[in-house]
Amino acid sequence: MIGLCLGLSTLPARAEPGIAITPRPAQVRPTGEDFHLPPTLVLSVPEGDVPARATAAYLRDILRDQLHRPVRIGTGGVIRLERASEPLPEEGYRLTVTPQGITLRAWGDAGLFYAAVSLSQMLEPGADDAKGGEVTVPGVEITDAPRFGWRGVMLDSARHYQSPAWIRRFIDEMARHKLNVLHWHLTDDQAWRLEIHRYPRFAQVGGWRVEAGEPHPSGGIYTQAQVRALVAHAAARHVTIVPEIEMPGHATAALAAYPALGTGPAPAVPASGWGIYPNLFSPRPETLKVLEDVLDEVMDLFPSRFIHVGGDEAVKDAWKASPEVQAQIRSLGLKDETALQAWMVRQLAAHLEAHGRRLIGWDEILNDDLPASAAVMAWHGAGAGRTAARAGHDAVLSPVLPYYLDYRQGDTPQDGPGRGVFPLKLVYGFDPGTAELAPDAAAHVLGLQANIWTELLRSEGRVEYAAFPRLAAVAEGAWTPADRRDWADFLNRLPGLLEGYARRGVRASDSALRLRLNVDPEVPGRAVLALSTQERLGTLRYTLDGTPPGPGARAYGLPIEAALPVHVRAANFLGDRVLPGALDVVIPSPADPEGLPLSPTLCTSGLALSLESGTGDVVRVDARNPCWQTRPAALDGITGLRLRLVSLPYNVEARVDAAALALDPTLGPGGGLEVHLDGCDGAVVARLALDDPSRVAQQAVRVALPPVTGRHGLCLQLRRSRPGPFWALDTLSLTALAPMKNPPAP
Ligand code: ACM
Repeated sequence: MIGLCLGLSTLPARAEPGIAITPRPAQVRPTGEDFHLPPTLVLSVPEGDVPARATAAYLRDILRDQLHRPVRIGTGGVIRLERASEPLPEEGYRLTVTPQGITLRAWGDAGLFYAAVSLSQMLEPGADDAKGGEVTVPGVEITDAPRFGWRGVMLDSARHYQSPAWIRRFIDEMARHKLNVLHWHLTDDQAWRLEIHRYPRFAQVGGWRVEAGEPHPSGGIYTQAQVRALVAHAAARHVTIVPEIEMPGHATAALAAYPALGTGPAPAVPASGWGIYPNLFSPRPETLKVLEDVLDEVMDLFPSRFIHVGGDEAVKDAWKASPEVQAQIRSLGLKDETALQAWMVRQLAAHLEAHGRRLIGWDEILNDDLPASAAVMAWHGAGAGRTAARAGHDAVLSPVLPYYLDYRQGDTPQDGPGRGVFPLKLVYGFDPGTAELAPDAAAHVLGLQANIWTELLRSEGRVEYAAFPRLAAVAEGAWTPADRRDWADFLNRLPGLLEGYARRGVRASDSALRLRLNVDPEVPGRAVLALSTQERLGTLRYTLDGTPPGPGARAYGLPIEAALPVHVRAANFLGDRVLPGALDVVIPSPADPEGLPLSPTLCTSGLALSLESGTGDVVRVDARNPCWQTRPAALDGITGLRLRLVSLPYNVEARVDAAALALDPTLGPGGGLEVHLDGCDGAVVARLALDDPSRVAQQAVRVALPPVTGRHGLCLQLRRSRPGPFWALDTLSLTALAPMKNPPAP
């Protein structure tokens, strides 16, 4: 049975039963006159219509996978792709399901493709799909077109490399979300990935770096042949790849390859830390000529109308210190270094325009002299984009908050590395604020874009996990008319979306629905257990005896007091359907060998990051102040702590002032651990020396505590003696085993 009719039938009543299309279409009119799919599906296309045939082939392949029945392209099909005679927007379409069949109608090629995408979602198999069984498609008339023409995702392939095969699959997923711009961040301080024939050292030198904490160079490049294949793959799915070559800043890798292109001391190698580097391309005419040569090859590879030239975070120290650059500023009659960057942007914009292209750059490029044809990508909040639009520039809104997807989706250990937390609902809720613009300014807002920076996302799997399902929320923001956006409706579609990702092998996050358990130690041997989820959907049910919870299990209401150890299993149910994100965990007693785990929080949040350790664990740490504290817990009978520390080799310190690290050079290479009772200003109850984190990846530590009674919070302050790899707390537990003795303090 089709999921929409059966698998999702236990969802709360919805306005459009059986229609679960994401992004939500502009108009949906259920007719109640359903269509029963025949055992063999034939798709028909207008004679000689090559793009329609390509879309039919795309749809055929998806339906074969989903429906487990023969699907072919022929004449007289029950699924008909037609060209609309009535005027529809280029990307708009009409999808009609009647008892006689299904019609996809569009004027433009993209519109027809999006009709096919919508139909493929209506024919998603449900959890109970019986292979080749009876399939009913709900009768409906859908009229749809996007709110914005630019529905983008930026992929940072510079900080970490993703393979062309993976990017192809990513583009496939974009197309399924009706996202249509892949902004490809190809160069940065840490890498230059794009093969340039005239200047081969850019990629040869810039494509590889030694990652902090790793012995060998890693990375990769994209050959021009690979790029052409990706551009074609994307075009077939109505996705435009907009390449970005960063200039004048974020140029460390480029300058390691060609030092003569820079101003000031040349970097020896691509950067392997994260942050903002002072290495800038020089504004010399000779350098500009090289950059224009690069852009010529870029234009030859990428048919995109827009070419992105970066422009962000170009700290001007090197230009300020250079007599040559200062002389150039004077001879051009410019005010300062910022005006000089603007002058460079004008040269580049003119070069692109001469080739029929348009420049786009980060919002630092916006100034009074920016050529009218140049577009602005606003990352300093949507307001920066509206400012650009009011000034008459086309603008794409990609605000850090909430569209930077290197922020995590949730705050559990499974949420992977990243910055703070931008949950799905926050991303869904983004309002571009175009209603406050006059119509002519609003028309300059090309659309919306999410950015996936990959400093902390070291693998393709991590990128996928950060991207999905939040890209579905972004897609709905960019596609669906403002008055049709509806969080509750989206949330109801989420379980089906997650099933789709799982079926296609996309490693999406279930953070929005994942069960979280908070354990509050009580009198010895007991604890209060609190269950929660980011979003409430369905009924939370649990057992405490290790048996799997079923639809009849006890519903969770208030926190539960339980004797330890206890085996907690819990899941959310919609009727008898189990939602993703179930929990299955044994909470030991402090008297068990592993101890009772606590969930400490950071003492400070100055540079709070979730980082991947050398062991592959993800730990949350303030990189300026590795310090953790626990909520007050009953410590009666507790004899000590067990800690697991993991070493963080990856260099986040370009953004960290050494003075802020409070280094204590009198300590040994591993630094030390101090345990305070009742807050970080409280008495020190234990002090230990640690192993050298640049030599070992993890360390188990046992700390004896003096006997105390009642509830107390603990503060665990790690002290460092030098920069470089440092320890972070992975797990912490209370033990009530026989009293221990601490080794001598450092
Ligand atoms: C940016 O985040 N520097 C565009």
